Amino acid sequence: MDEHLDRLWRSANKIDMPIAFTKSKIIAEVQRTLSHLKVKRAYIRIVVTRGEGEITLDPQAAHENNLVIIAKELNENPSWWYDDGVEVIIADIKRTSSESMDPAVKSGNYLNNILAFNEAVKQGAFDAVMLNHDGFITEGTTSNIWIIKDGVIITPPLKAGLLGGITRAKILELAQREKLSFKEENIRATDLKAADEVFLTSSTKRVVPIVKVDDQQIGSGKPGKKTQELLKKYLSSLN
Ligand SMILES: Cc1ncc(COP(=O)(O)O)c(C=O)c1O
Repeated sequence: MDEHLDRLWRSANKIDMPIAFTKSKIIAEVQRTLSHLKVKRAYIRIVVTRGEGEITLDPQAAHENNLVIIAKELNENPSWWYDDGVEVIIADIKRTSSESMDPAVKSGNYLNNILAFNEAVKQGAFDAVMLNHDGFITEGTTSNIWIIKDGVIITPPLKAGLLGGITRAKILELAQREKLSFKEENIRATDLKAADEVFLTSSTKRVVPIVKVDDQQIGSGKPGKKTQELLKKYLSSLN
């Protein structure tokens, strides 16, 4: 929760949106919402808006932040994601650049991601991987992307233009703690397709093996061993 709220504050700051709530107020409201929902596992979306006002582009017209908390029961993820792995495509649409709509800002504006995801849906894929305007991999539509090549775990650097996932940070910490070989380095679609293992990460999806990129099978076409070990280690680090 702390990391997610820190990211919310960082994002608001980047778009010049003051937040009048305290973090502890938001935590209390989330707990209150969950106490009504009464489920074992929940999806929670915390939305802070600038507030209401005249229809205009001028943010100053909005006076008072609104806080919206959306919570719903979240069933356990399908086991086939982890047992069989998933397929992704490389999207035609490019990720917005850090100089225009910075992907590091987690906002309600998901149109870029939605258009990429729509490409994946139309091709029967699980997700779409988005390239930046220099042709480097950024991220999935709601996940971060990783490869393992010759024993080294590699994920694109934040400067490639992507959202710093909380799970991404946890996996990097875990790799450091476990003294695994890892680096943050630009990768191209060709590197993704030639990797020994590929996987994606997010808070709700955790660590999901990718076994196909476009029509290219990754490794043996089964979830990679190192990916499965990382998932195990990640899950035990949550407890
Ligand atoms: C664009 C994008 N990238 C990456 C992620 C993964 O972030 P996290 O690990 O914090 O869930 C998300 C999660 O929603 C996302 O929307």
